[in-house]
Amino acid sequence: MLRGMRGRAHRLVDFWSLSPLARSVLRRRLTYLHPGKLRHIERRLHETIGAGVPGDIIEFGVALGGSTVLLAREASAERRFYGLDVFGMIPEPTSLKDDAKSKQRYQDIVERRSIGIGGDPYYGYRHDLYEHACTQLLYYGTPMDGERIRLVKGLFEETWPTLGVDRIAFAHIDCDWYDPVRFCLGETARRLSLGGAIVIDDYHDYEGCRTAVDEFIRDNPGFELVDARNPVVRHRRA
Ligand SMILES: C[S@@+](CC[C@H](N)C(=O)[O-])C[C@H]1O[C@@H](n2cnc3c(N)ncnc32)[C@H](O)[C@@H]1O
Repeated sequence: MLRGMRGRAHRLVDFWSLSPLARSVLRRRLTYLHPGKLRHIERRLHETIGAGVPGDIIEFGVALGGSTVLLAREASAERRFYGLDVFGMIPEPTSLKDDAKSKQRYQDIVERRSIGIGGDPYYGYRHDLYEHACTQLLYYGTPMDGERIRLVKGLFEETWPTLGVDRIAFAHIDCDWYDPVRFCLGETARRLSLGGAIVIDDYHDYEGCRTAVDEFIRDNPGFELVDARNPVVRHRRA
């Protein structure tokens, strides 16, 4: 009980340390992210943009568009934002490196046992998820214009190669399982500007995500993992 109370108190402190935009996104039930994770995204994002690191902003895993709204806010004439998602049912975790928890989570989703944020219908059962995410961007004054701000529907593995992104300043990888995390991290890291940051959402939640990141760091000594609730992958500093 004491732990539960402490958890709620931390959540409240994290909530009030967020920007008004992030608080609004949480109040409107647009994100699954804990306020502490949102705060970490905001800090790393503003640090990166504030330092003038060149490149685009990318999100793999948009869902209802909560974290997307925070990232898209930083798009500009020189810096595009791309949010990628199937905007439907999450693809299955098919790797042997995904854990039992991931497989159970997926089973619950496909057997329609999943409940959304605050009792809402689960987002993956909606047929208008893409339109919903576009509406949220519009609501916050950062409309999807297909140029500066783009939402891209389809499997990452199929849509990403068509986008022609060559330099990345900041990326948020929030796609749960081993295969997509491995793909997105490899593609993002090789385009990451010096001083850029890749925030990984599920490192402490799903074994497949953690394995994909650990393997990447092992095989790419030029990068390091800075641990946090949602850790950061960045170029190793000399
Ligand atoms: C946890 S949700 C993203 C949550 C969101 N960032 C938020 O703020 O709540 C993960 C999303 O990634 C998408 N996804 C996972 N694997 C994918 C893949 N291979 N291609 C496209 N979308 C994928 C899922 O459909 C889902 O919408």
